[in-house]
Parts: sequence; C-alpha cells; structure tokens
Amino acid sequence: MTVWRDLGLFSKTSIIIALVLVVFFFVGAVVEYRQQREFIIEEAIAKAELVAAEAIRSREYLSAQLTTGKVELSLDRYGLIPVVASQRIGEQVGIDLGYRIRQVSLRNRNPKNAPDPFEEKILNRFISNPAVDEGFAISTLDKEQVFRYLKPFRVEESCLVCHGVPDEAPGFIKQLFPPESDRAYNYKIGEIIGAASVTIPMERLQQRLIINLRDDLVALGAMLLALVFCLGLLTRVTVVNPLGRFNASIERIIRTGRFDQKLPLRGRDEIGRLVAAFNEMLDHLSEKSRHIEESEQRYRALTESARNPIISFLANGQIILFNRQAEKVFGYSKREALGLHIRQLIDPDCPSLDGKDFDEFWQGELSELLSETRMISCRSRDGSAMQLELSLTEVETEGGGFYTSVLRRPPTER
Ligand code: HEC
Repeated sequence: MTVWRDLGLFSKTSIIIALVLVVFFFVGAVVEYRQQREFIIEEAIAKAELVAAEAIRSREYLSAQLTTGKVELSLDRYGLIPVVASQRIGEQVGIDLGYRIRQVSLRNRNPKNAPDPFEEKILNRFISNPAVDEGFAISTLDKEQVFRYLKPFRVEESCLVCHGVPDEAPGFIKQLFPPESDRAYNYKIGEIIGAASVTIPMERLQQRLIINLRDDLVALGAMLLALVFCLGLLTRVTVVNPLGRFNASIERIIRTGRFDQKLPLRGRDEIGRLVAAFNEMLDHLSEKSRHIEESEQRYRALTESARNPIISFLANGQIILFNRQAEKVFGYSKREALGLHIRQLIDPDCPSLDGKDFDEFWQGELSELLSETRMISCRSRDGSAMQLELSLTEVETEGGGFYTSVLRRPPTER
C-alpha cells in the first residue's frame, strides 16, 4: 500500500487508466466475439436458405415443366427427373462453394438420400410440427465442426406423378422402384416428403470470424491505446507538470527565504487557485517578516543607543543580549559576552549575595529583584568590582521567556 502511496501522480493515473482500459478491452473483445459469431451464423443461415430455396425451386420448376411439357421421362432421361436434376445441380454448386447440399427423406427411394441422425431428428420435427419452416444447429460431422441447415419439402400436385398412387407412375419408375418395396409412393398433397439439407464447415465460417475479430480488436486496441496516450498526456500537461513547477518554486523559496518571489499566475482552475492562494500566503509572510525585521531594528537601535548597560539572559543564565554600553562598562565585546553565564558578571563578594552562592541567591530573591531596584556589586572583565543599580524585568515568550536587566551607576558616581 505504501508503495502505491509513494508512486507519482502520473504513474498512479496511468496505472488506473491502463487497468480500466484493459478491462474495457476484454469486455469489448467478448462482446465483439459474440456479435461476430451471431453475425456469421446469420450469414450462414442466409446462405443455406438461399441454397435450399434454389434446390426446391429448381425441382419444382422442373417438375412443373415436365408435366405441362409432356416430356416423356425414361431410364435414358433419368437425369432430368426433377429431384435428380436439382440434386446434381446442388452438388455442383456445393463443390463451388465448399458446402454440401443433399435432399433427404425418411421414406427415401435412393439409399443415398437416407438422413443421418441429425437430419432424421429435424425431419421428424418438421413432420410433427407443420409450423416449423426450417431447422439449424452447429454440430459435428465426421469429427468436423459444421453448421447444418434443413428446409422441408412439401408434396404438391406435380410430385404425385411419381410419388402418388403407384398405378399412375411412369413405367420405368415402377420398374426401378417396385411399389412393393419402395416407400416413396402414396404421398398426399401438403405432406412432408423430405428436406434440403445444407452443411457448411465451421472452419470456413470461423476463418471469417477470426479475420473480422482480429481486425476489430486491432482497431479497438489502437483506439484504447490512443486514449491511454491522450489521457496520460492530459494529466501530465494539466496536473503533473504544473504541480512539479509549483513544488520546485516552493522549494526555491524555502531555500532562499525570499518571500517576495511570487509564483507565475495561471488560469482559474484548481491548481491556478492553489498558486494564487500560495502567492497570497507569500504576501502575508513577507509582510510579517518585514515587520519582524523592522521591530528588531528598532529594538536594536533602542538598546544600542541606551545610556545604560542592558543585558538580557535566558532562565538558564545564558546571555543573549549585550548592548554597547554594557560592552563599555564590563569590558567584554558583544561576541565574548553572548553565551556567557550571567553569574560571571556578578562579584562573588557582593553584599547582596549575603554569602550565598549565585543560584541560591537567584532563586531566593527573584521575585524581590523583579519588583524593586537593588544595588549589586558587579565584576568587569579585568576583575574590578563596581556598584551598579539593577532593575530586572521578566519577558514571557513562546520560546520560554527571558530576563532583561538595566544597570545604572548610582547617582553619586555619575
Ligand atoms: C418424374 C418423376 C418424379 C417427380 C415428378 C418427382 N419425383 Fe421425387 N423422386 C423421383 C425419383 C426417381 C427419385 C429417386 C432419386 C434418386 O435416385 O436419387 C426421387 C427422389 C425424391 C426425393 C429424395 C428422397 C428419395 O426418396 O430418395 C425427394 C425429397 C423427392 N423426390 C421429392 C419430390 C417432390 C417434392 C416432388 C414434387 C415437387 C417430386 N419429388 C417429384 C421421381 C420423381
């Protein structure tokens, strides 16, 4: 989790966008695959329908022509028998297209036209339910995946010549298919006599499917990649780069301490508002630091120009302010005095100490020292003692407070 938190904004958005788009891609691929499959099956149905309709129409046409044209069929003209002719034409067309077209019947005359189990099932469905007008499915045939389609044949007037009452059938038909053993006589008009059966190898369809799918997925992938690129570029240009510049400017200001160096303003978007707010904060800061500097200067001028020694020290006794007059009176330079303990400026024999050690005296007399002036015997650098009048004040600050002592020579010594 921390790894993720430490990642750059750009990496984070890129990862999220990429993940979302990968999901999109897979969903898109699945939807696309389904659509393509449906489309290809629809196409296969349309093709099979066409082929079957062709077979039915050509057989019907031949059948009608033979009846009206009074063509005498004989054994020599066997190939002109409607079903035989349309069957053979269908075979040729099938070879051209890579399909297989058959005309099948449960009561077949020619054993070649016997249905296989799949065809038998569909034929039975046609017979039991006259409303069914076609049947199709994807199944396997000789271990090959195939699309299969069947369209029923119904008996009509012209068929009865050879499929009606055996007595009326042409002699050669009766001779070839003796009524005693042939089952394709005695049909009635409207009855299902068989079906056109079209078989299309799935491999052919799937090749199309794969090509279509590949093309579509390449297009989808390219589109999503372009999207990733654009979104990445967008976050880089609108968020990551401006934030980077913002950050660099802040770091520069922290390094140089120059609050007057404002950041260049940009539009009124979120980052723009952030920059504007930051600039405003810089204004406040630079104003504040100017005030502090001025008051420090005033304070320094005040203490430096004072006619009395002024010495400030922390509660632990460390000297933090030593004015010019103090330098003169005590003989220490500012640099030497700052950091010294205040104890070192007191004469150990000072009567006020009353023989006590400094810390004891300090603790015992502090409240009195704060409320009244007191004569103190001080010690300068060269060890000489001098009597000075001490007035002490306490200053409370957030940093812990300190004491300021103003020392004065007694009036007689001035
Ligand atoms: C001139 C005679 C004749 C006519 C008319 C005729 N058929 Fe046939 N039919 C045959 C013969 C002969 C066969 C056997 C074909 C073969 O050897 O493949 C056959 C076979 C079939 C078959 C294939 C199943 C099988 O029995 O082998 C179907 C289906 C069929 N006929 C339907 C029809 C329909 C529908 C019509 C009317 C539109 C029709 N036939 C008109 C003579 C005829």
